[in-house]
Amino acid sequence: MTDDARADSPGLDFATRQIHAGETLDADFGARVGPVYQTAGYVFPTFDEAAARFAGESTGRAYSRTENPTNALAGRRLADLEGGRGGIVVGSGQAAISVAIFALVEQGDRILATSSLYEGTKQLFTGSMTRQGVVFDFLPEQASDEQWIAAITPRTRAIYTETIPNPKNDVVDLERLARIAHDAGIPLIVDSTVATPYLCRPIEWGADIVIHSTSKWLAGHGAVIGGAIIDAGRFDWAANVERFPRLSEPLIAGGPTFVERFGKGAYLAYLKSVSVLDYGPTVPPTSTLLLLHGIETLSLRMERHVANAQRIAEWLERQPEVASVDYAGLPSSPFFDRATKYLPLGAGSIVSIDLVGGLSAARSFLEGLTLISHMTHIGDVRTLAIHMGTTISGRLTEEQRLAAGITPGLVRLSIGIEGPDDIIADLQRGLAASDPIEMPLSVPIRAV
Ligand SMILES: Cc1ncc(COP(=O)(O)O)c(C=O)c1O
Repeated sequence: MTDDARADSPGLDFATRQIHAGETLDADFGARVGPVYQTAGYVFPTFDEAAARFAGESTGRAYSRTENPTNALAGRRLADLEGGRGGIVVGSGQAAISVAIFALVEQGDRILATSSLYEGTKQLFTGSMTRQGVVFDFLPEQASDEQWIAAITPRTRAIYTETIPNPKNDVVDLERLARIAHDAGIPLIVDSTVATPYLCRPIEWGADIVIHSTSKWLAGHGAVIGGAIIDAGRFDWAANVERFPRLSEPLIAGGPTFVERFGKGAYLAYLKSVSVLDYGPTVPPTSTLLLLHGIETLSLRMERHVANAQRIAEWLERQPEVASVDYAGLPSSPFFDRATKYLPLGAGSIVSIDLVGGLSAARSFLEGLTLISHMTHIGDVRTLAIHMGTTISGRLTEEQRLAAGITPGLVRLSIGIEGPDDIIADLQRGLAASDPIEMPLSVPIRAV
């Protein structure tokens, strides 16, 4: 089996590609489902072949930290679905974000990011990565072109954003950010976890690198943690050698550079052969089997996720206990036009609600639910709910929370694929239990 044997996917429907793209036939037994290669390493048939594999001169495999065939199949399938040149899967969404950025930066380099991002990503950027010497600049996505351009310095290595930022659903204008990034000679990196390749393919709008937490809708059943990085394979690293020395300087003195050897595939090659090899964020192939099973039904699940989310968001908007609903599929959302452009099949299945009664209402709402799971996570077949201000955004000051739109009554719902009437009945139970008296978030609370 080789990595490049692909299903003949051009022209095939998404629903076909999610089942077949990147597959290879098991040469030993003809197994229809790709085998789980639960092995750490691979026997070298000859002395010379061992040396060739280490030198990257053979397509044969050496060690599963970077080269597991089950993981490679998932990388090919996701790359196909996103319209990229290639992809890799890693141990978590956070691992994907970390290695995707560490492959581009050195101490003192900068990343320019939209300020509305998943809180875990913000903490990674402003905490661990900042302490390691990477500088992060944040701008509201609505800032003018001039402000974005002015924020790009000679040390800026990429613009980073999310297709549908979690949890506020403030859909990003990917085409504009791609244009601004490319005019400055830097790539656009997009975390597209909440959209999935079924709802939006950022590469079609100019993105260069797409990231996923595959723990969410891609795997889809809440059973595994994983991440993925997909390279569009279009960015011209050679045109900007001074910005990307890792790709344009030889790894070994006198040897070829990644750009010389792999051209526009230099970033993906660097990720595989240096970043993942060095940092080791390997995902177990057993987890990847569950990811591949999830991907096979992605389109079907997403159709149901977005249909349920749309109906429930419309229903929530009519409830007196709900002050506002963040869902870009609602005509009342300031992001409705963006969603129409970038997410024609549906605006995802995160629905965030601000309860009139604030923190105490959120507590009684969550404690009043019986079907919906009160937990952190998104993209499960089950509907999930969480109070943002005391959990995911709990480390922020009240001022920082409000700046990020995390009001005391904000509850994030990840709408599942259960019967919509049953989800609505449970929401109704939660709202009936919710206390309409508003309280500030700073009131001491019991840990949840
Ligand atoms: C948008 C987004 N990106 C990345 C992550 C991190 O993914 P993981 O939990 O797989 O590390 C999350 C987790 O919630 C997320 O919502």
